[in-house]
Amino acid sequence: MVNKGKIVIIGTSNVGSAILNKITDFQLASEIVLIDINTAKAKGEALDASHATSCIYSTNINVHVGTYKDCHDAGIIIITAGPSIKPGETPDRLILAKTNVKVMHSIMSEITKYTKEAMIIAITNPLDVATYYISTHFDYPREKIVGTGTMLETFRLRRILANHYHVDPKNIHGYILGEHGNSAFTAWSTVNIAGMPLSHLDDCFNFSQRIDCKAIEDEVVQVAYDIINLKGWTNTGIAMVACRLIKAVLYDEHTILPLSAVLEGEYGLRDIALSIPRMLCGEGVVKSFEVKLTDAERDLLLRSAESVKKASACCRD
Ligand code: 2OP
Repeated sequence: MVNKGKIVIIGTSNVGSAILNKITDFQLASEIVLIDINTAKAKGEALDASHATSCIYSTNINVHVGTYKDCHDAGIIIITAGPSIKPGETPDRLILAKTNVKVMHSIMSEITKYTKEAMIIAITNPLDVATYYISTHFDYPREKIVGTGTMLETFRLRRILANHYHVDPKNIHGYILGEHGNSAFTAWSTVNIAGMPLSHLDDCFNFSQRIDCKAIEDEVVQVAYDIINLKGWTNTGIAMVACRLIKAVLYDEHTILPLSAVLEGEYGLRDIALSIPRMLCGEGVVKSFEVKLTDAERDLLLRSAESVKKASACCRD
């Protein structure tokens, strides 16, 4: 029997611990289990978070260190383990592919001993390679595996556009698609602010200077490395993305978000994981949408697919 309120977090470094703290703050679980090869770190994080739960109003959240056995009745499992890009390193998540595919292998080999029912949220980079590997190399229901994908880039785009036009980011709609990484691209044809399409925005907001789409797109990709160089890692944005997905699963939202999963022929692509708009609910990813793209955007998606496919070759080693 799945316990919907039980969340397992694998990896308790900067990202895992930020997710733990947000889940606790938002009271999105009744039990949170932490798994890390560094058990001392996991224990420290569990203790620290458990103290925070003493002053939460409603729920008594049980935060503790566990083992993979704890996955047997988990509702959601979040995978954050594995090295990430460090300050000064080559700014490309794909360089982590070989190392983190091995990490994914050892983690999934354990998870699958105990469950095939939990929703798995992949966060480890390179996200699309990791999502592809765990979706295709194990006997686990595909709809129950999702990568956070370009949701983070999409949130970054919203923030940048919101600052530019001085408007609530929640009024900004549209998607960044493709790889969670350097070949992510803005599907500008999907972007609108409160129904006003890109071509009308400058006029609607009385801006005499035209918006520089290329500069904004570059900033969306570059800003992750800027944060890494400034503070050493990124974790707050991705933790919020994880919570958004947890909420969509817990509340059976049927919400549509740009998420990574294995393509099944959409845009003529298969045997690769990338982000396109997908519907997420309690059952997992129940539908993917081949939204209309311009020819140029399709080319960018194919280019993104090529670079992720190249990096995914190590999954076959
Ligand atoms: C991020 O985009 C590095 O993938 C991480 O924040």
